[in-house]
Amino acid sequence: MKFTMMQLKKIGIITSGGDAPGMNACVRAITRTAINQNIEVVGFKKGYNGLIDNDFIELKSKSVANIIQLGGTILKTARSERFLTKEGREQAYLNLQKNKIDALIAIGGDGTFTGASIFIKEFNLPIIGIPGTIDNDLFGTDNTIGYDTALNTVVSAVDKIRDTASSHGRLFIVEVMGKDAGFIALRSGIATGAEAILIPETKTYINALLSKLEKDGNKRKSSSIILVAEGDDFGGAYKVAEAVKEKFPMYDLRVSVLGHLQRGGSPSAKDRVLASQLGAWSVNSLIDGKQDVMVGLVNKKLVTIPFEKAIKHNKKFNEDLLELAEILAI
Ligand code: F6P
Repeated sequence: MKFTMMQLKKIGIITSGGDAPGMNACVRAITRTAINQNIEVVGFKKGYNGLIDNDFIELKSKSVANIIQLGGTILKTARSERFLTKEGREQAYLNLQKNKIDALIAIGGDGTFTGASIFIKEFNLPIIGIPGTIDNDLFGTDNTIGYDTALNTVVSAVDKIRDTASSHGRLFIVEVMGKDAGFIALRSGIATGAEAILIPETKTYINALLSKLEKDGNKRKSSSIILVAEGDDFGGAYKVAEAVKEKFPMYDLRVSVLGHLQRGGSPSAKDRVLASQLGAWSVNSLIDGKQDVMVGLVNKKLVTIPFEKAIKHNKKFNEDLLELAEILAI
């Protein structure tokens, strides 16, 4: 189905999956770009659940005033179990038809886009995705909305941990989010001068890590920080801590799991700008007849990429950065 500007009268927005700072800035940009083109906008609540429950609000220019700086999502979010079922998706489609929604814009991550792609195939309703996840694990955009803010949050938290680690002469094992991707761990590790970084994309050689710690110990480093992504193959921060404690029972060691604080907070300037650009670009892409794609920003250029490619987890991490981290952590 290809739209001309005249045919696209009303669109829906959802925020879905894990929330990410900048989602509100994005809802604002979509709403105001659409209104500017005389397109009505509604926001469905709690991701795909809002479609199934017909739970929505009309979005006017004023409804999105004063939200650009807010973390979380005013539309709320969910990882919808019901949308995984055919009945759930049928109900969602009925409600979209009932409300005369011509197309949908979904802000979220890989789970959101997988659902969108199935839905398009079943019901031929145009959907465009916007990458909103702190994980940055989507191919087809240099950065996802929320990643920059989460990175800054982690850096600020780890700097604070460094203060106390160095006062006590302790080794800290800090776990950050990232089930399948180590983007947060890698970048924040470089930015905080971590002694070691463990990410899901590479195998963790525990003996190599233990010898590195032993060498650091001999150098009488005043503190050490190991940054571990939650999806690291050794099993996360507590598992690494067990192995270290077993080999070096005398080490003064602590574990800190940063958890969901990484998902909150006011979006950084970078995330607000990215969210604004991608929000506007998603509406323009819909008007252009695009569907079944995610919008992105690659090398400062606005692009679209099929959902199927975006969600395959083939966004490469920067191996040079990992090497750099090792060199700098001597
Ligand atoms: O996808 C974003 C993310 O924050 C991941 O980094 C993390 O593994 C997951 O969500 C946690 O999800 P939940 O909040 O549902 O526990």
